[in-house]
Amino acid sequence: MISLSFLLFVDDMAPQASGLSPPVTFIALTPCLDRSRPQTLLRMSSQAEEAAEQTSNTVEAPTSSSSTETDPTNGTIITVTVGATVPTGFEHTAAEEVKEKIGVDARVSKDRGRIYFPITTDKLFQVHLLRSVDNLFVVVAEYDHYQFKESKEETLNELQELASKLPWTSALEVWRLNRTLKKKKGHRKAGNATRAKSNAEPSEVPAAAAAAETEQQELPQVMSPDDDDAKAEVTPDSETRQQDLEDTAPEVKLIKFRVTCNRAGDKHSFSSNEAARDFGGAVQEFFQWKADMTKFDIEVLLNIHNDEVVIGIALTEESLHRRNISHFGPTTLRSTLCYGMLRLCKPQESDIILDPMCGTGAIPLEGAIEFNESFYIAGDNNDMAVNRTVNNICHIQKRRADKGSPCGLPIDTVQWDLSNLPIRTSSVDIIITDMPFGKRMGSRKKNWDLYPSCLREMARVCRPGSGKAVLLTQDKKCFAKAISRMGGLWRKLHTVWVNVGGLHAGVYLLKRTGSVFGQTPEDVHESRGRGDAQKDERDDKELC
Ligand SMILES: C[S@@+](CC[C@H](N)C(=O)[O-])C[C@H]1O[C@@H](n2cnc3c(N)ncnc32)[C@H](O)[C@@H]1O
Repeated sequence: MISLSFLLFVDDMAPQASGLSPPVTFIALTPCLDRSRPQTLLRMSSQAEEAAEQTSNTVEAPTSSSSTETDPTNGTIITVTVGATVPTGFEHTAAEEVKEKIGVDARVSKDRGRIYFPITTDKLFQVHLLRSVDNLFVVVAEYDHYQFKESKEETLNELQELASKLPWTSALEVWRLNRTLKKKKGHRKAGNATRAKSNAEPSEVPAAAAAAETEQQELPQVMSPDDDDAKAEVTPDSETRQQDLEDTAPEVKLIKFRVTCNRAGDKHSFSSNEAARDFGGAVQEFFQWKADMTKFDIEVLLNIHNDEVVIGIALTEESLHRRNISHFGPTTLRSTLCYGMLRLCKPQESDIILDPMCGTGAIPLEGAIEFNESFYIAGDNNDMAVNRTVNNICHIQKRRADKGSPCGLPIDTVQWDLSNLPIRTSSVDIIITDMPFGKRMGSRKKNWDLYPSCLREMARVCRPGSGKAVLLTQDKKCFAKAISRMGGLWRKLHTVWVNVGGLHAGVYLLKRTGSVFGQTPEDVHESRGRGDAQKDERDDKELC
């Protein structure tokens, strides 16, 4: 028997703003394990598989998400479903990236901000190379229409029973393989405990996070089919596997775990806390793992969205959105969101791309790394922001130099005022920026002057006919009004609605029309000081 007392940890507040209940993590205090049961590493194979077959008929059978085959060169290959959390609104962009880089079709979940796709274990490393995903997990089981019981007690009992009936084997194999793919980091970072927090945390990272956030996501090392570890991980014989693990990783003989529950929907008779606690307790009993909130080896995820239930095992320790930034500002944008914005404007070779309000430089830095055939200019009127951008660029360059990779990045930094750019008319291909929302940065009142003057100056420097802008703002009313005052210099092509720090914001894709700047009464009357745009154009023509 196991006796447990529980502490519930409310992991995140941000999802409340988007209608989700906060993810909750289960931890058991003073678990008194039954010492008569072997403290094995992954006591799951036959027992769990058998149990899965006996799934109670009141619970819908889970969608099968794994299969195994043997490849003559790679050994046993398992196919599993991987789930990824992505910036809300950019699910289709993420699915597009999966298709492009891994060659499989991804399914966009009903639960916004998630996608699912199949992966074979020989391609597992590729999931860590995706740029649009925040967190990754391997799916243990999925229920599209889980029939929750009427009463809380019955439902929680059923969740407890579920733990021993799930087909854990393949997902745990993938979790182990994933561990061997990652560079051994020694201890888990403190960031581990905040991983789920960062998952729901949107672009605006508090400045205080900067100090803690100094290390980057490390990419997994690519494994060759000859890799001994990889072969050991997929040996079909579970006893051999067990022995291998005990030989090679004695320090992880007793697995530590936690359960995090994300729940959304108003028809549940139970809370996330209760689900995490009861499901977590049953997982602990079934596997004889030790619960640990901060130094866990395995994070089991229990995602409940209305009647959809997905149980998974995390494959990332912290959100991949933190990959580029070491010097955070008050409104640093997630690199995954930056990537989505960059994909929207499809950078081409030798394009000149401007982020005129770059803050910490998250957008142009992501561009310079991922779409490095273009050249980026990052500017801001705030000297602290410019310094942070310079520091972030230097940090990436140093990291690259330390690894012996070429460290040059196609990016430059400058301090300027966006309403008066030191840039020639019609010389920029793409403008991509995250404008002050008027909440943490600037003010709503100031936006009424700032937005029109920015849009006008952007229209001046952007190439008529082919230039584009991708602009993020939550101040939709002010933005719409400012666009309507541009005399047709910009045409709105598409809007992606995103969640930024719990705020409903728009990413606007604009096309610079063929209209010549300086010819509408608005341009002539309102352009500030730069004045003679037509003269600039004449000068340009004379030079050609
Ligand atoms: C929302 S923040 C950008 C955050 C940035 N994307 C990041 O990841 O750190 C907006 C930025 O616009 C800058 N800004 C405001 N008015 C400006 C102006 N007139 N010219 C240039 N930059 C300006 C602010 O200093 C601030 O850094």
